[in-house]
Amino acid sequence: MELDDVRSTAKEMLDKLGRVVIGFREEQRFLLAAMLANGHVLMEGVPGIAKTTLVRAMARLLGLSEDRVVEINGVQYRGFSRIQFTPDLLPSDITGSMIYNPATRDFEPRLGPIFAYMVLADEINRAVPRTQSALLQAMQERQVTIGGVTYQLEYRGEGKFFLVFATQNPVEQEGTYPLPEAQLDRFLMRIIMGYPESMEDEKNVYRLHMGRLTEPLEDLEPLVEPGWLVEAQEAVVKLVEVPEDVIDYVTRLLRATRPSIFEPVSRYFDLGASPRAGIALIRAAQAFAVIRGSSSVEESDVNEVLFPVLNHRLMPNIDRVVEYEEKDRYAARVRVIREGLEFVRKNLV
Ligand SMILES: Nc1ncnc2c1ncn2[C@@H]1O[C@H](COP(=O)(O)OP(=O)(O)OP(=O)(O)O)[C@@H](O)[C@H]1O
Ligand SMILES: [Mg+2]
Repeated sequence: MELDDVRSTAKEMLDKLGRVVIGFREEQRFLLAAMLANGHVLMEGVPGIAKTTLVRAMARLLGLSEDRVVEINGVQYRGFSRIQFTPDLLPSDITGSMIYNPATRDFEPRLGPIFAYMVLADEINRAVPRTQSALLQAMQERQVTIGGVTYQLEYRGEGKFFLVFATQNPVEQEGTYPLPEAQLDRFLMRIIMGYPESMEDEKNVYRLHMGRLTEPLEDLEPLVEPGWLVEAQEAVVKLVEVPEDVIDYVTRLLRATRPSIFEPVSRYFDLGASPRAGIALIRAAQAFAVIRGSSSVEESDVNEVLFPVLNHRLMPNIDRVVEYEEKDRYAARVRVIREGLEFVRKNLV
């Protein structure tokens, strides 16, 4: 596939998405960029702001409706599946288990909802850590083992991708289990979504739903086959150039987030970003460059994806968080991280 094909289809996707999800233009670009970089996404935001709608709309454009099933090497994969995380959800409710079949007097595998192209893991922080780990491990390895047999969740040769979209409510409630920082970096991006930005956007949401009881996204027709994404991913990673000065820029940025290397940043971060974060940043910037319409990464592409790629991989300075919490209880951590990344960019040597 040529980069021009990726670019024109990506543009069309964003146009169509924009018709069923009002506002969130930037978030829609981030989501598409993450998918083009083969990265899982954590979406954070209060209920009712179109997180599910955005992911379902994307699935439909890729020809992946809820009822589509694709069989590869004798294993059935759903187009799109959704798992509601609750405190009593077990790891086997995600991956699957061996069940006894009285007819054959034998155990046979019952494959779980993770056998899908796109998995929406709703309210991931409500499940116990053991269950969260089962999902995070499958995300990382892109395979699961059931009854001693290992199954692939991704088959690139067959055009089968595997991407997880997890949602999380930032308002910490009782009985939630925040994902450990060390596991958060399984997600390429954490996209933070708020309420509609303007009055006009919000009115448009209501107008969109006026005079109908069904979801507008149900009108979306598939734009491509699911295999398109796998080919597009290959094109992005292989054909989008990353010039030496951009590698240099990313390296300096990353090092400047680390208090042990750049002492002044300790005002913002207790712990900086790892090399894994740098790899993620470059991949995401490559995808973003294509969406922007270029075949070469520029510093501005890195800047665009800097926050969604790094915000969940940095540990904010706790004193500063406490100071901000007095003003805004929920947004304090994110605010410190945002300011810290601004500071890093402005003070790069
Ligand atoms: N910006 C928006 N554009 C279009 N529709 C929207 C927007 N915000 C909310 N809606 C509509 O509001 C309803 C709720 O959206 P959705 O289910 O996607 O929210 P959610 O963020 O997934 O919430 P929850 O956390 O409760 O699952 C849907 O009918 C959706 O179409
Ligand atoms: Mg939802």
